[in-house]
Amino acid sequence: MTGGINTVRGWVRTCRSLCVLTGAGVSAESGVPTFRGPEGLWKMRDPMTLATPEAFAADPREVWEWYQWRRQRIRGCAPNPGHAALAAVEAAIPDFLLVTQNVDGLHRLAGSRQVAEIHGSIWVVRCAGCGAEREERDDFADLPPRCTACGGLLRPGVVWFGEMLPPGPSSAAMEMLSRCEMLIVAGTSAVVAPASGYAGVAKRRGARVIEVNPDETLVSAICDATFRGKSGDVLPALFGHPKSA
Ligand code: APR
Repeated sequence: MTGGINTVRGWVRTCRSLCVLTGAGVSAESGVPTFRGPEGLWKMRDPMTLATPEAFAADPREVWEWYQWRRQRIRGCAPNPGHAALAAVEAAIPDFLLVTQNVDGLHRLAGSRQVAEIHGSIWVVRCAGCGAEREERDDFADLPPRCTACGGLLRPGVVWFGEMLPPGPSSAAMEMLSRCEMLIVAGTSAVVAPASGYAGVAKRRGARVIEVNPDETLVSAICDATFRGKSGDVLPALFGHPKSA
């Protein structure tokens, strides 16, 4: 590890092509539960009974009760200084992409525009029958909700275990990883593929890789710098935006 905060700030200042990969940890300070942390969602429930196409086919009502609860929880959360710092740095770097595994929409709410949501969005619903897709932020009175066009079952617009990533965001991410000078990996345990392999892709290509995470992860060993702190503190410091009061 060669980079202290001032060194990495220097790298950021001269960087022309920056990719940032985020995970649930970036939204933790906003009150959104992570998946594998102490009170993580997957500590409470078995993901195979809630976040797979098979679970949805077996019991769409139970799946929707859980996703409606998550939407209600996220609806009450606001972006934190980590989200704000990423939205702000976007304008300063000519070639920038924020690749997020988060489905909570907080990056966009913070003002980020160059965003690839590789796991979809919890605010989008898609018909399992006709494929019609739309944004829907309100709660559903009846669960599971049905498509107004064909009567088919609506499903959350997120990527479940065993499913392919959406082609647009996925190819945008791979293209950026193949050219970025620097990759910042923030708030992810790096255990879920293919995002868990993104740091390796960038590193093999010669990009600098920086990690922001209170804990060690599976990609820590290949990083040029690691910051063992909360993204709401570290990201503003890295980008020279002192944390707002
Ligand atoms: N700032 C930065 N990192 C944090 C913070 C914080 N304030 N709080 C926790 N973390 C770190 C944890 O140490 C952990 O390494 O965030 C990481 C969260 O890891 P996970 O809960 O595994 O979430 P994530 O990596 O995003 O999960 C990947 O798994 O369940 C699927 O589709 C789901 O997108 C998700 C994917």
